[in-house]
Amino acid sequence: MVISGGRTSISFAAVISCLLVAQASGLYVGFYAASCPNAESIILETLKPFLASDPTLGGPLLRISYHDCFVRGCDASLLLDSVNGNVAEKDAPGPNLNSVRGYEVYDGIKAALESSCPGVVSCADIVQIVSRDVTVLDGGPYWDVQTGRRDGLISIAAEAQANLVGPDSDYDTQKNAFANKGLSEKDLVVLTGAHTIGRSRCVSIEQRLYNFSGVQGQTDPSLDVSFARELKATCPSGSSNSLEMDGTQFKFDTRYFKRLQVHKGLFGSDASLITQPFPASVVEEETHKDSFYADFPESMLRLAALDVLTGSDGEIRKNCAFVNS
Ligand code: HEM
Ligand SMILES: *[C@@H]1O[C@H](CO)[C@@H](O)[C@H](O)[C@H]1NC(C)=O
Repeated sequence: MVISGGRTSISFAAVISCLLVAQASGLYVGFYAASCPNAESIILETLKPFLASDPTLGGPLLRISYHDCFVRGCDASLLLDSVNGNVAEKDAPGPNLNSVRGYEVYDGIKAALESSCPGVVSCADIVQIVSRDVTVLDGGPYWDVQTGRRDGLISIAAEAQANLVGPDSDYDTQKNAFANKGLSEKDLVVLTGAHTIGRSRCVSIEQRLYNFSGVQGQTDPSLDVSFARELKATCPSGSSNSLEMDGTQFKFDTRYFKRLQVHKGLFGSDASLITQPFPASVVEEETHKDSFYADFPESMLRLAALDVLTGSDGEIRKNCAFVNS
């Protein structure tokens, strides 16, 4: 390459900055530009009919980024089925079993990709592109997803239970879980802003409503009193109902943060974000749409780069639910 003239030096600078980004995680925007140029449009067009027939899939499909990346990194280990007596992450009681869903969407997308570009696009990258797409389809911000992840070979339920903290967790428990992954307190607050979309099962607030701090019959006193009454009406003790996370389940917006400030956060973990000055200040900042829409993509990129497999590590699965034979 001959470097001469302003135009060429700009693209040279772009190449350098691209290499610098690649150095940090091994990922970069446009990994499939030559090997599967339509990968992202195939993913989006395959995703859309799933969401059209069940719009509530948006919540779980965004959440899966977090549940995948916090356990062995963003390697699609969450998508693997249990086999031969090994209980996989997706069957972990607590964080995943009977809670996370939408796996059929990745199977559909993978099948479409395999027919256009066999053996090229990883399930781990599909997970991250789908999360971005559901965010955008629900009215949230767009970001360029870095790609080049490869798929892991191992999935262990106990690791999901060890890395994903529960809805009754206090602030320090969540802060430490994120710090263990190299994510900041700001990342924690911003990323839990994902609770702006989706639904929860009543079982996730059972303790908070009826057995707070292990005291039978006690309700979390930090809950707004009339909101607690509403929640109990929707979720009688032992109920198998579900409810919207922030009251507008299909709308990615700042409502989640505004509700935290008036003690209408759904989980104890949500409510804990206003119990210390620093996270409370981030909550305040994120009630502004321009902040949240700028910060959420940045934190998602950090989440999506956790402990990734690249180069010749792992494999490109043919079917997202199984390692290649
Ligand atoms: C320490 C932090 C977090 C805790 C304790 C937590 C906990 C929970 C719980 C208990 C549910 C309801 C599950 C159910 O009842 O089936 C839920 C749902 C959800 N979470 Fe989180 N979460 C956390 C962080 C995150 C992050 C980082 C994201 C994404 C970036 C996320 C995205 C979601 C979404 C979108 C839903 C709705 C799922 C649906 O519609 O099925 N959460 N979370
Ligand atoms: C209430 O909480 C305590 C402590 O976490 C637990 O041992 C007990 O089983 C709970 N009771 C019910 C009915 O969930």
